[in-house]
Parts: sequence; C-alpha cells; structure tokens
Amino acid sequence: MKLTYSNLGGSGNGIGIGNGNGNGSKMSLGKSIKMYLTIFIATTCIYMVLYQYHISQEPFAGSEVVKPPLYIITPTYRRPEQTAELTRLGYTLKHVANLLWLVIEDANKTNPLVAHTLDRIGVPYEYMVAPMPEKYKQTKRAKPRGVSNRNRGLQYLRQHATEGVLYFADDDNTYDISIFEQMRYINKVAMWPVGLVTKTGVSSPIIQNGKLVGFYDGWIGGRKYPVDMAGFAVSVKFLKERPKAEMPFKPGYEEDGFLRSLAPLDNSEIELLADECRDVLTWHTQTKKNAPAQALNRTRYRDTNLEFIDKLLVRP
Ligand code: UGA
Ligand code: MN
Repeated sequence: MKLTYSNLGGSGNGIGIGNGNGNGSKMSLGKSIKMYLTIFIATTCIYMVLYQYHISQEPFAGSEVVKPPLYIITPTYRRPEQTAELTRLGYTLKHVANLLWLVIEDANKTNPLVAHTLDRIGVPYEYMVAPMPEKYKQTKRAKPRGVSNRNRGLQYLRQHATEGVLYFADDDNTYDISIFEQMRYINKVAMWPVGLVTKTGVSSPIIQNGKLVGFYDGWIGGRKYPVDMAGFAVSVKFLKERPKAEMPFKPGYEEDGFLRSLAPLDNSEIELLADECRDVLTWHTQTKKNAPAQALNRTRYRDTNLEFIDKLLVRP
C-alpha cells in the first residue's frame, strides 16, 4: 500500500484511523491519534517559528556585539614557516568575538600570499608592513625582532581605536582562547604566566596574599618588568593616555621598555589574570627553523599540480 497522509486513514493497516466503519473504541483511538498528530505538528511548527525568531534576534540580543574590541598585534616575517604559523594562529583567533587582527610584516611591501592566507582564514584583519630599520638588520648581535611591527600596530590604534584592549601575539606562540575573554575587560594593564619551552618552565608574576610581589623568569637582566611578550595586555584608553608609549629597539628589553613607557603605573594597578596567575593560558613556543624549500624542477614537473603548490611556498 502506498503510504500517504490520506490513506493513513484507510483500514488496510489495521489501526483504522477514522475509516468511518470501525467500532466505537477503534473510532476513539483513531480520533485521539489524529488529535495527537495535530498537536504534534502544531507544536513543531510553533517551535520552528520561535527558533527562527530567536536566531534572527541573536546578533542584537546576544552579548557578542557589546563586548569591548580586542586588537591583536601580530608581527610576522617572510620565512618557510610563515604560512603555517599564521594559519595556526588565525584559526585560534577565529574562536574569539569582536577582534581585529593587526598583522604587520617586517617587510617593505605586502606579500599576496600572506593576504591570501588571511582572507581564507576569515578573521577580520588589517595587513600592514613595518620594516626593521636597516641598522638593526645589519647587526651581528641580537636583533630587536618584531619591534617596528608592534610600534606600527600601536600607531594604528592611536589613529583608529578608542576602546578595548591590545595584545601582542607573536605569530609563533600558542594561546588558549580563554585568555582573550579575560583580557577584554581590563582597565589598565594585566599580566599572567607564560609557559616557556626552556629550563625555567614559566615566566610569571609572583603573587603572595593576592598581591604582585615580584617576577619569576629565567633572566631578570635588571628589568623592572621581567615578563614575556605573551604575558600582558593593555587597555586602549590607557595607552592613549600615554601618547609617548612605545617599544624600544633594545633586544631583550622590548617588553620592559614598553611597560615602563606606560608610567605612571603602580604594581597594585596591574590586574592578575589566569586565576590570579595560578594557571598557564599562553605559551612562548618556537618552531624549528627550516631551510627554504629547494627550487622545483620545472622540466620534470611541467603541467602538474606541483607548479601550483610551488607558488604557495614562502621562500626568503
Ligand atoms: C620574543 C620577542 O617577540 C622579542 O621581541 C624578544 O626580543 C624576545 O622574545 C626576547 O625577549 O628575547 P622570540 O620568540 O625569541 O622573541 O623571537 P621570534 O619569534 O623570532 O620573533 C618575535 C616576533 O617578531 C614574531 O612574531 C616574528 O614573526 C617577528 N619577527 C621576527 C619579525 O617581524 N622580524 C624578524 O626578523 C624576526
Ligand atoms: Mn617567538
């Protein structure tokens, strides 16, 4: 028997839904099944309408839009690992609401490959360049890595941002997204522990009786703030109240110099995140440096997919 709504009422299936010739109990059973079916369909419809309404209202009723914005400043530079690093970080940031990713490359011009990667990830971003000054590039000693990039990010914020929070997220580190929700609401400066892949294990503020009493780090180096780049955030309002604040081109002292330039800032004003610095939510990780990929043998692999892939590889 072909099972349609109309012939559900037929007698062929033995349930006898309203077939008009059954006995009384068969009749009432049929009627109540019909009634329950009607109620079921009606309820389903009402739920569907309510659900659609809920979905359509969500961007306005939800808390996402009213959350203060996060500005994530990420220095990057051309190297074989670059696409992999940006992809990993980008998909982490994709879990975070109301965020603008300021990707700033240590280069003289933007790279379409980087723009392509950022487009595909789909996190709102600004892609800018800020080359390291030539005199630092030439030096045989330690270089101030990512400094011109971060200062370019600060300059962007001074021009375009009014509220929210900034955070320096190097492209090679590892971030638990819960830290982003915690830093979003800070007033001035916040700090928290950073997991290290060194003997020291962690770089962290030291907290005793709820107060910041010092810093734990593998190298103190006479710094007032011996903290890692991944271990602090600053409110945009607070930054803008310090028009001269910036990062010095001083290897090893970038964080310290920047935080000092935010003076006056009392230690008691530094907010302690990550469960009052008992938890580790960010890690200073390092990717092994790799030699650039060799050139593709164009004769051997002519007219193959490898010609396309070759264009995606970042070479110095
Ligand atoms: C981290 C800090 O980011 C440095 O600013 C600091 O000097 C260093 O710790 C330190 O305290 O000793 P690190 O992880 O050692 O640096 O260095 P990288 O990850 O190689 O560089 C930091 C950031 O700058 C990265 O986002 C990287 O993409 C970028 N970078 C690096 C450049 O933009 N240009 C470069 O030539 C090298
Ligand atoms: Mn790094």
